[in-house]
Amino acid sequence: MERSFLMEIRNKKIKSIDYYVNQRLKLCDLPVYKLDMSSFLLVIFGGTGDLSQRKLIPALYHLFLEKELIKEFSIMGLGQTKMTDKEYREFCRKAIQKYNPENYNKSSCESFLEHFYYIPGNLIENEIYQKIKPKIFQLTIPNKKEAKSNIIYYLAIPPKVVIPVVEQLNRFDLCKGTFRSKVIVEKPFGRDRKTARKLNKLVLKAFEEEQVYRIDHYLGKDTVQNIFFFRLSNTIFEPLWNRNYISQVQITVAEDIGIEGRGKFYEQTGVVRDMVQNHVMQLIALIAIEPPVGFEPDYVRDEKVKVFHAIRMMDEKYIENYMIRGQYGPGKIKNHSIAGYRQEEYVSPDSNTPTFFFGKFYIDNWRWANVPFYVRTGKRLPKTLTEIYIQFKFPPLQLLGQGAQKMEPNAIRIGIQPDEEIALHLNVKQPGINNQLGWVQMLFNYEETFKKKQPPAYERLIMDCIKGDLTLFARQDGVEAMWSIVDPIIQWWESHPPKDFPNYPAGTWGPPEAALLLEREGQKCRYKDIL
Ligand code: BG6
Repeated sequence: MERSFLMEIRNKKIKSIDYYVNQRLKLCDLPVYKLDMSSFLLVIFGGTGDLSQRKLIPALYHLFLEKELIKEFSIMGLGQTKMTDKEYREFCRKAIQKYNPENYNKSSCESFLEHFYYIPGNLIENEIYQKIKPKIFQLTIPNKKEAKSNIIYYLAIPPKVVIPVVEQLNRFDLCKGTFRSKVIVEKPFGRDRKTARKLNKLVLKAFEEEQVYRIDHYLGKDTVQNIFFFRLSNTIFEPLWNRNYISQVQITVAEDIGIEGRGKFYEQTGVVRDMVQNHVMQLIALIAIEPPVGFEPDYVRDEKVKVFHAIRMMDEKYIENYMIRGQYGPGKIKNHSIAGYRQEEYVSPDSNTPTFFFGKFYIDNWRWANVPFYVRTGKRLPKTLTEIYIQFKFPPLQLLGQGAQKMEPNAIRIGIQPDEEIALHLNVKQPGINNQLGWVQMLFNYEETFKKKQPPAYERLIMDCIKGDLTLFARQDGVEAMWSIVDPIIQWWESHPPKDFPNYPAGTWGPPEAALLLEREGQKCRYKDIL
């Protein structure tokens, strides 16, 4: 940069470098002031449930500690258990101590819990709803007018209770009349496209679409959001991010845990409804998405829906050839003996519920035509790991002779968890007198670079909801489109029971057919057992 220009900046004759950069680039982001926080009341349906104890209350507490929450806020738990406000505060204190022990501090926790209230009752009966409105009015929030426009209902309840609760909220005029409330709905949104559509219709009778926050906690992970930031702020990858240069994408969402006592839920769900329809589809969308015209919620969500619509519909033949299901049997992980899925509590001894999925998807649009997206996800795999591996094509000639036979394709590996990193895999000359290639990686690690780990996903999503930012929440059409992709797989599998379940021992990378499918396609499998 010219010296005179810098001198001018230093002398403050002109504004700043940022000013000039912004002159050249169109700024698409939402102005930050639009998303300022106002006081709020969070009403948690299922305030004593598992999700509240493990995730929501500890996340809110951490936000409070970090001074992210505005001073004027109230949290009201609703649940079956009979408790007073005082007892509920003690219940929440225990949850924080148990699930966020590293941040627990008695006195800050007490100040935090002063904001808590509780109403006991059956969430389906009228009685509890008659108490909610007066309680909201009763709560001492300094700026009542503002607070009433920021009332959030968090439905931390089982899917089958969602419909009656929404109906009751509507019946008791708690949605758009007296208050301008927001509602957070947890996944799964329905069991298939038809039930999701029914649920959406009902929710939209009570609320406007912009009041509805459909949570997919994967989108609250910094490393997941970074896929978008990484793509849209680095010029060097943009020309390569398409079918001309990318040969395949492998998405792995592996867990070493099993179903963690959720047998009843999992028997009704299985891996496709639990992971593929939502978390995996969101990852595919972020990799494949076209740049939106701006960073406003609907611009981003419009582009995601376009990706979902472009995913190739699958017929029975395709499913038989390119989709593999599995269920874990007994095995060992890190030298611990692990029971098989069928031996888990609340699981039928001859259950056909799949706990593993491997499949190939195509996105039939201009950018991605013929690039396979392989997806692998499962429970009781050797380790917990979520990553996206984007593999590039080989150079057109092996001009480097013998040594180049060891050439590996370039790749970008995006580590979502537990390793939060981005690695660029390259070929370089190995030291020595021979012309040999070595495959190396350039690594960026979040924790090393920024000296902190990503915050828990729920913290970001709760904050976004309080501020009114819908970008990271699924829209009705997106949810239905994701179901349309997986519905044929679920239907085919449910109507054709597997003959070989359990077909992988706990602690292995799933049934061997998954790795064999990749080999058949001439692709290198990222994770497999030694066959
Ligand atoms: C949930 C699934 O949505 O995501 C669980 O219901 C799964 O089965 C969990 O274990 C994985 O989330 P995370 O953030 O631990 O990777």
